[in-house]
Order: sequence, then C-alpha cells, then structure tokens
Amino acid sequence: MSGTSLDGADAALVEFSAAAPRTLAFATVPFSAELRERILDLSEPGKDRLDLAGTVSLELADLYARAVQGALAGGGVSVDQVTAIGCHGQTVRHRPELGFTIQLNDPARLAERTGIDVIADFRRRDMAAGGQGAPLVPAFHEALFRHPSVSRAVVNIGGISNITWMPAGGRTLGFDCGPGNVLLDGWSRRHLGAAFDEDGAWAKRGHTDAGLLETLLAEPFLEAAPPKSTGRELFRMEWLDQRLEEKRAPEDVQSTLTDFTAHAIVDALDRFCGKTDEIYLSGGGARNPTLVDRIEGLTRGRPVAPTDVLGVPTAHVESMAFAWLAMKFVRREAVDLTAVTGARHPRVLGALYPA
Ligand SMILES: Nc1ncnc2c1ncn2[C@@H]1O[C@H](COP(=O)(O)OP(=O)(O)OP(=O)(O)O)[C@@H](O)[C@H]1O
Ligand SMILES: [Mg+2]
Repeated sequence: MSGTSLDGADAALVEFSAAAPRTLAFATVPFSAELRERILDLSEPGKDRLDLAGTVSLELADLYARAVQGALAGGGVSVDQVTAIGCHGQTVRHRPELGFTIQLNDPARLAERTGIDVIADFRRRDMAAGGQGAPLVPAFHEALFRHPSVSRAVVNIGGISNITWMPAGGRTLGFDCGPGNVLLDGWSRRHLGAAFDEDGAWAKRGHTDAGLLETLLAEPFLEAAPPKSTGRELFRMEWLDQRLEEKRAPEDVQSTLTDFTAHAIVDALDRFCGKTDEIYLSGGGARNPTLVDRIEGLTRGRPVAPTDVLGVPTAHVESMAFAWLAMKFVRREAVDLTAVTGARHPRVLGALYPA
C-alpha cells in the first residue's frame, strides 16, 4: 500500500487461514524526496507527462518488490508460501465525477520481480459498477472491527481521511470525509522543509485563527452527503492559498489546519453517522498527538483510541486491507461496497497478474 501522503510503501504479510486475519510481518520502504516530487508533479493536471508516468510506474514496482521482500525476510516466510500480493499502486488522479481513477503501478513487473501472483487495480471495477472507487477499506474495517453490540467508527487518517461507521445491528457506512495529513504535510514542507510536522509539535506552538478556520470549513465537500471520495485534486496547496489572503504566522496556519482536519472528521461523524460509542483511529495521523488532542476536544466524551487497542497497529491497517482485498479476489468473493462507494452491486475487485 502506498497512499496519498507519499511517505512510502508499506507491506504487510497477512495470514487468513485462522478466523481472524493475522499480520506475520510488516515492512516499509520510504519514498525519496525526489520520487515524492515527481509523483506530486504527476498529481497536478497539466500537459502530457506520459513518459514520466511510465518511468515512475517502473520505479514504484521495484520499490513495492523491495517492500514485499522486506516483509518476507521479517516474517521468515518464503515466496512459495505466499498466495498473492495485493498491490494498490500510487494514485495520481482520482476523478469519480468523470468515472476514472489512475493508480500508477506495474503489476506485471512486480510479479516478475517477486515470483508471486499480483492482484492490482482494485478501484476500477467499483467505478464501472457505478461506485466512487473509494474508499475501499471500509469493507475490511467491517470484517475486522465490527462489534455485535457496540457502535464503532474507524477513522483512517492517511493523506485523506475516511470514516467507517459500523452501527451495532445496522449497515456499515463509509466515505472520505476530507483531508487527513495532506494539508498539514504540504504546509510543513513549504515552511519547515520537512516531510511532516513530527508529533504535531509545530502546530502545537501556534494559535488557531477562528476566522480562517471558518473559511476553511465552508468548503462544500464537507457538507455533501455520502457516497463521496476525494484526493489531492481538491485538497492541495492552491486550495489553501486561495483561502489565505491575509498574512499569518506559519505556525498559526499549521494549528488552524490541525483544527480543520479534526473538524472535518468529527463534524462528518456528527453529520452523517448516528450514535457512535467508540472511535478508533488508524493511519499516520493517529500518530500525531496534537491532531489526536484536537479530535478528542470535539468528540464530547465519546472515547477515542488507536486501533492498537483492538490488536492492529495503526500503521498496519491500510496495507492489511489490500492483503484482504487480494484474498477476496483469490476466492472470487464479491465485496459489498453498495453502502460505501455507491456501487450498484457487490463485485469481485481487482485483476490478476500471474507470477
Ligand atoms: N509522529 C508523527 N507525527 C505527525 N504526523 C505523523 C507522524 N507519523 C506519521 N505521521 C503522518 O502520517 C503520514 C503517513 O500516513 P499514512 O502512511 O497512513 O498515509 P498514506 O500513505 O496517505 O495512506 P492512505 O492515504 O492510504 O491512508 C505522514 O505523511 C505524516 O503526515
Ligand atoms: Mg503511507
């Protein structure tokens, strides 16, 4: 899995033979600053950069192969013990309104490099069936985290944040609720020259600007009813710059963005989800204590905890989800995302690139 934050690729080695999926090993291969810049460049609509897309795809496949090999080495597992790799690819364009989504990848090369069957291209079939193509992970959250008598929400804070709401006895709802780390990372990159604001320490030193927060919260995406999905096409630095006509201290903007991100999550829970007893956080944003504090400040007593307390480290959830989606493909089981992406029917998601 490599998500919109562009921090790197994660590989989880997951066993599905027991009742509950179990992660045997986990590995991360970071993106170089140079690769991150090239992917950011491809994420901006503009003139044809197909050569760049082609070379980045090859480089990603090689990097994914290293992540897989890292997880195999960490778990002491050999290639012939692995059924399949589920590989998401790197989103550079997500246009549900136009009916397409593009993840750069070269799954054939990944199969060639690893000697393992690769399942890739999970989003396109969902779109073909009338869905948003995102988020896909709520199906896995439901399989892993649903409780029979407690209503839970799982919030994955990657580049974009998505919510999975699992009411006890009711149908699971899932949707992208707005930015996760994208704006926080973009502002840190611009003013600190750092990939992210470690532990939210910089944001913590700033003061939130109530007027700016209100301007940011007026974004119509936040109020639009699910099904909905979003990406860097909307929540990019130009989006922020257009709303920053006055000059402000950079740490005050970072603090305001942290509150904005927290509101995008909790306001969506309040707006679109019913009674929620427990809120669980996953993804890199769950490791930002300033952001977690701001979220807790808005939840009015509903307990907030990382998915670690349910036995799954926050950093593993998304990559495990793509192992799970690959397992569903191998078994040719349809995934029901009708109440998440708006797909008309459950569908088998993905395509096979044999070893
Ligand atoms: N200690 C930390 N302090 C602050 N932020 C952190 C910390 N650790 C991780 N992060 C944030 O998490 C991000 C990476 O999160 P993650 O890998 O879940 O996102 P992703 O790759 O976009 O995944 P996806 O979009 O698929 O959910 C980093 O870019 C950073 O913003
Ligand atoms: Mg990541």
